[in-house]
Amino acid sequence: MEDANASYALRAFVAIHDGDPRILGYYHLSLSTVGADEVGKGVEGRFLHLPAIPTIYLGMLAVDRRVERRGVGKLLMADALARTATIARHAGTYALTLDAIDAEAAAYYEDGFDFQRFMPGGLKMYLAIQTIIALDLPDPA
Ligand SMILES: CC(C)(COP(=O)(O)OP(=O)(O)OC[C@H]1O[C@@H](n2cnc3c(N)ncnc32)[C@H](O)[C@@H]1OP(=O)(O)O)[C@@H](O)C(=O)NCCC(=O)NCCS
Repeated sequence: MEDANASYALRAFVAIHDGDPRILGYYHLSLSTVGADEVGKGVEGRFLHLPAIPTIYLGMLAVDRRVERRGVGKLLMADALARTATIARHAGTYALTLDAIDAEAAAYYEDGFDFQRFMPGGLKMYLAIQTIIALDLPDPA
């Protein structure tokens, strides 16, 4: 995974394969918040009632179509989870959040990584920080 940033507004990471100049996939992370009104009744107990709940946002996870379904998405997600755990060890945050682009993408996050929806049927999703820490992933370089 390579750090591909010129600015600190967000931090983007790309997947490459040794000796191949192509970018196989990418994602970005940024610090964010979720409004108390965005958290559904079923999950509100997991969050303190703050006006703005601190979160880490995972954006733009995408894989080159030529290498889809070969595990690059899983590798990118593992990298994102490891980085999220590292951040969470240094600054308080409740969850890794994302906006699934459509129902199919939501199913990918739900089935593959246990992300949950803030609202029933909604596309705004989260993975609780305790779940991520419990994975005990090694600190990324
Ligand atoms: C969604 C995406 C990132 C997945 O990346 P990928 O490298 O193809 O995924 P992986 O190879 O790691 O797939 C892992 C598993 O998820 C499943 N999966 C992959 N894409 C899926 C999808 N769209 N819906 C449901 N499941 C999916 C695969 O079947 C695979 O399961 P298996 O290992 O049991 O066979 C990629 O398809 C993509 O870039 N799509 C277009 C952009 C997009 O939709 N991004 C998400 C925006 S929110």
